Amino acid sequence: MNPYKATILVADDDDDIRLALELLLMADGYQVIEAGNAKEVVIKAARHQPELILLDMNFSRDTTSGQEGLDILSQLKSLNIPVILMTAWGSIELAVTGLKQGASDFIEKPWNKLKLLNSIEQQLSFSRIKGEHQGYRQLLAQKECKPWICQSKSMVGIEQLINKIAPTDANVLILGENGTGKSLLAERIHQLSSRQASPFISVNMAAIPETLFESELFGHQKGAFTDAKQNRVGRFQLADQGSLFFDEIGSLPLSLQPKLLRVLESGQYEVLGSSQTQTTNVRLISATNADLSQLVTDKAFRQDLLYRLNTLVITIPPLRERLADIQPLAENFIAQFIAKYHKPELTISQAAIDKLKHHRWPGNIRELSHTIERAVLLATSNEITKQQLLLDIADTGASVMVLQPLEQAEQQLIEKAMLAASGQVIEAAKLLDISRNALYRRLEKFGIKYES
Ligand SMILES: Nc1ncnc2c1ncn2[C@@H]1O[C@H](COP(=O)(O)OP(=O)(O)OP(=O)(O)O)[C@@H](O)[C@H]1O
Ligand SMILES: [Mg+2]
Repeated sequence: MNPYKATILVADDDDDIRLALELLLMADGYQVIEAGNAKEVVIKAARHQPELILLDMNFSRDTTSGQEGLDILSQLKSLNIPVILMTAWGSIELAVTGLKQGASDFIEKPWNKLKLLNSIEQQLSFSRIKGEHQGYRQLLAQKECKPWICQSKSMVGIEQLINKIAPTDANVLILGENGTGKSLLAERIHQLSSRQASPFISVNMAAIPETLFESELFGHQKGAFTDAKQNRVGRFQLADQGSLFFDEIGSLPLSLQPKLLRVLESGQYEVLGSSQTQTTNVRLISATNADLSQLVTDKAFRQDLLYRLNTLVITIPPLRERLADIQPLAENFIAQFIAKYHKPELTISQAAIDKLKHHRWPGNIRELSHTIERAVLLATSNEITKQQLLLDIADTGASVMVLQPLEQAEQQLIEKAMLAASGQVIEAAKLLDISRNALYRRLEKFGIKYES
């Protein structure tokens, strides 16, 4: 069996860049072949048939037009290999031309490692899907994307809900603590929608500087303002016919909210520096961990904008309230990380699973994934032990207990345990470390509902 995830051809005239990419890709399990000039790219691509090509746009040091990259791209077309373009920062226009001429994606230099690896993974899985029979395409598209685990009652409910609402064009607002899976859910809604073949464009509202907001969303024309050296395509145009994901919508400054509201109300906007009105057709998905209604009360978020966003609201519960998901998630992360670090098969002990179920998980699934990654690296046998989770020093939540009558505290703890155990008495009793009968007695005493 081939030990590599895939073979990638790295094409760049700069030795240092090729080396940096080679190290990055090899560490992530890929085989790398290199090409340092235009001719070599085409020859090596044809000879080695790599699964993917990373292509620089300029091969002679004195050119920046990107024409060389586009020429190579057209020569590579017949090979049907996905190509990710590497463009200089800010040359979105060139990237868009490249995409129109058949490139699969582009990445700006200097690259963000995670983004680059994600893009590679995504393109590889797309091209595998494309290779399959047309009829299976949709099925595979769902299978090939990031796993989506939903075993707990609340997550099964969410799954049923999104199956119903994804095909509609209704705007969706996703709420939930950090790391509960809001971004992943947004992508899943897109994949289950009729827009799945069109782009899913994600915008992090917290990361856009106020001065660049309009240019980022609506694009600009060359010369529209001092730094506008080239035309720029905005996110609304990139996402046209697809879905636009506004992440961290709660951190959008009040001053920018009317600009967003206008395009959401009318579907119309102008590219900066142009007087021509553009129309856009996007499905809007937004997410936040902020309490938007509180922000509205505090006059930090416009109510009319909130009404545009929250046609449907999905709240993802924190991980500590969906214990049934913990074991399958942990097992899924173990599989993921043993593949990443080329480790032999690993299981997890029952004591370790119990420990995971008792942790408070302020960082939710992301924190669980980091915990498992660390444990996989620390594992010395073929089983992860509870000590290797290194959860003892972590916040157990004890500090949030306030002084109150003992009986009241007892009732609260029992209600919490029942919620976390999705109403299963046996599971809740385990969490509280009391017998099933002892729990039944208390449930009766406090009049807490349970399934018998
Ligand atoms: N149901 C799930 N099944 C499997 N993996 C999941 C699930 N939900 C989330 N994850 C994984 O957990 C991590 C965090 O998810 P994600 O980034 O979507 O959370 P988020 O709520 O958007 O976080 P943030 O608030 O920081 O933006 C990701 O690696 C994601 O793939
Ligand atoms: Mg997110």
